[in-house]
Amino acid sequence: MTRDIYDPTYIAGVFDRCSANYRVWSAVASFGLVRRWRRHCVAGLDLPQGLPARGVDLMAGTGEVWPHLLARFPEIAQITAIDISPAMHAEAVARLHGPRARRITHLCANMLETDLPDTSADFAISTFGLKTFDAAQHRIFATQLHRILKPGAPFSLIEATDPLGWRLRPLYRLYLDRVLPLVERMFLRGAQDFMMLGAYTKNFGTGDSVTRALRIAGLSVTETRLTGGSALLLTGHRPRD
Ligand SMILES: C[S@@+](CC[C@H](N)C(=O)[O-])C[C@H]1O[C@@H](n2cnc3c(N)ncnc32)[C@H](O)[C@@H]1O
Repeated sequence: MTRDIYDPTYIAGVFDRCSANYRVWSAVASFGLVRRWRRHCVAGLDLPQGLPARGVDLMAGTGEVWPHLLARFPEIAQITAIDISPAMHAEAVARLHGPRARRITHLCANMLETDLPDTSADFAISTFGLKTFDAAQHRIFATQLHRILKPGAPFSLIEATDPLGWRLRPLYRLYLDRVLPLVERMFLRGAQDFMMLGAYTKNFGTGDSVTRALRIAGLSVTETRLTGGSALLLTGHRPRD
């Protein structure tokens, strides 16, 4: 029987098993690129300074983007962090400390089904949470994003993409498809879960299905390609009614 790698229960399991090593592995395996990309994502969020804003971090994982977000927008009053993996949530909670903790609300939920109130968010951010959706799920995600954002509210989303046409792509793919799985087998006791992230990135391709879905949902979107096309930054806002 073939498994459905886009089944939310399956995905929650992959991230539950990755959770303990996720933070270090993603930083090391990407040579620190993911941190730089998260900063790009925060820089792309067109939120006015000085607002006690209440927003959402979608597919928040271990909350790696919060330090960058709160450094750029110190007045943010509340971040609702949505993630489907209980273990990723647990890691995020374990890492929270001091004044940051009281500003984060955790919601262990499926983003595609969450009933977060309509027009409740002053902003939305998402880092590396789009590749585990297929095209049909991108359309549901986009509808949900539009529904949750207040009219005029900004969003910024980033995801790793397959850099088709980049001259370094053969090396990049060799690294993702061969080297990383080997390192994972050697150092993570034979686990195969991080290897899945390479498969999701390959299927995600250039990420065009997300851009299309956001536009169909009625959001205004700008695309920016980073690092030879190996990441896609999508910034924009929900137009005012
Ligand atoms: C690659 S991690 C990214 C985590 C974090 N945002 C970061 O910057 O590292 C993707 C996250 O998306 C979550 N996720 C996947 N599908 C989801 C869904 N349908 N609803 C909510 N979270 C989901 C996973 O559990 C995982 O924590």
